[in-house]
Amino acid sequence: MSLSVEIVATKPYEGQKPGTSGLRKKVKVFTQPNYTENFVQCILDANGAALAGSTLVVGGDGRYYCKEAAELIVRIAAANGVAKLLVGQNGILSTPAVSSLIRHNSALGGIVLTASHNPGGPENDFGIKFNCENGGPAPDAFTNNIYQLSTAIKDYKLVRGLQIDISKVGVSTYDVAGKPFVVEVIDSVANYVRHMEEIFDFAKLRDFVSGKSTGKPLKMRIDAMNGVTGAYVREIFLNRLGASDASVVHTTPLPDFGGLHPDPNLTYAKDLVDTVAQGDYDIGAAFDGDGDRNMIIGSKAFFVTPSDSLAVIAHYLEAIPYFQKNGVQGFARSMPTASAVDLVGKKLGKEVFEVPTGWKYFGNLMDVGRLCLCGEESFGTGSNHIREKDGIWAVLAWISVMQHTGKSIEDILKQHWSVYGRNYFTRYDYEECDLEPCNEMMATMEKNITAAEFVGKNYSSSGKSYKVKQADNFSYTDPVDKSVATKQGLRIVFDDGSRIVMRLSGTGSSGATVRLYIDSYEKENVLGQASVMLKPLIDIALEISELPKFTGRNAPTVIT
Ligand code: G6P
Ligand code: ZN
Repeated sequence: MSLSVEIVATKPYEGQKPGTSGLRKKVKVFTQPNYTENFVQCILDANGAALAGSTLVVGGDGRYYCKEAAELIVRIAAANGVAKLLVGQNGILSTPAVSSLIRHNSALGGIVLTASHNPGGPENDFGIKFNCENGGPAPDAFTNNIYQLSTAIKDYKLVRGLQIDISKVGVSTYDVAGKPFVVEVIDSVANYVRHMEEIFDFAKLRDFVSGKSTGKPLKMRIDAMNGVTGAYVREIFLNRLGASDASVVHTTPLPDFGGLHPDPNLTYAKDLVDTVAQGDYDIGAAFDGDGDRNMIIGSKAFFVTPSDSLAVIAHYLEAIPYFQKNGVQGFARSMPTASAVDLVGKKLGKEVFEVPTGWKYFGNLMDVGRLCLCGEESFGTGSNHIREKDGIWAVLAWISVMQHTGKSIEDILKQHWSVYGRNYFTRYDYEECDLEPCNEMMATMEKNITAAEFVGKNYSSSGKSYKVKQADNFSYTDPVDKSVATKQGLRIVFDDGSRIVMRLSGTGSSGATVRLYIDSYEKENVLGQASVMLKPLIDIALEISELPKFTGRNAPTVIT
């Protein structure tokens, strides 16, 4: 039976503008009549002529509304001439798994259903993001096009009668207006696990994790935070690497993440931090809802900042078979990320790039072979094996480094600092502030720090003095396609390399979140307490930005 395509009249919704990482709104916004349909149609239209006959990947982090959205996408894609969809079973695919699948199947792209680390459930957030054929998040020009289309949309296409059961793995072929349309529901983890096995030496890691090569099993606590990584974690750490059942927790993906805020940091992964602090663990790790972020802690909850994590992995890259085989190209970090990796790059004679916040800015450099490892302070670490950050990959990299060095995480860090010096780093988040005063604060601060007399100014607090060397609103020209991204965050760089960075988050779904990043380098004094070492610079940042005055906040909501 041939299924027919229906053209459904619709009207534009305001505000369908993708942020740092796709469109994120409350579930209630997405479930308004035609809201999701409009946005999906615009994503497909933004692909132009390439869409007809293409293959797309569809999946998400299992949060509330994922399954319904996936089924809707199947019906809209069928109506728009897509030839084949690869859909994760029950709509489940981690963000790194989508990226890997796009690349392995030479797909035109993928639609990722996630609001990443934002809470889920009917009262919370949902999100839709498009990744292009390199497997990476769509670049600015592409998402701007989606937005433009969303402001003028008049209708969308739908195959209303297409019945699909995405709970069972298998291939279904439909006849849509005389043309075949294929939906392949795939095992959510198989391709990704195979990919990890190609990158890391699983035999060696298994001996290390199970204790065969050391005489003592590695004690780990891997916390999937009820997000999408649960299924991946069980297969990799339990079945392939032989860890004990107790090594993994919260491994059932839940639509509301069991009420957890699935963001792997010291505040929201408190359960992990407390458990590892009290127990006898060698490594603790957590991931966010869609599995691209990671947090690593060592014994007694010794915290590894994402900036340090990136630098350490960079230093030991050659312990990982993938890099032995493919070589080590350049490194990169986002602008607010502390510059620890720059020092490793310098020592190893590698290019190091500083890009705006957002994983999409790494893609071009990877595609032309100039970049193999990158990371962000926002708990993202990854390599050119895909075009997304990859939480599980980061843990496997860390376990590889532990196996290679035979050292504890704390000792690995202390040794690293003794060689390179230490970038003390912290981030203060002020969540859900009113937008207007925040915009005003940013505008005022920009005006003040870009005034001619600002450079050279001295600031002192608690006996420490800093002299301004440079201050601007960060802008970036992509070295490959020469596209320019402006207004990517206010930064003040001091004489000794210490930095204050301030920007508004691009991933929230309402109001404004102010992020204040403090980065201070010490060559010798590497064993201090970060909060103490950074206090003077934090006070100076609050003074320059007048943050308490504009936001009415005297303390951050989250400190990482
Ligand atoms: C997402 C992106 C990251 C980015 C982060 C920043 O996780 O994938 O690449 O660093 O958002 O979020 P923000 O809220 O600071 O804009
Ligand atoms: Zn994420």
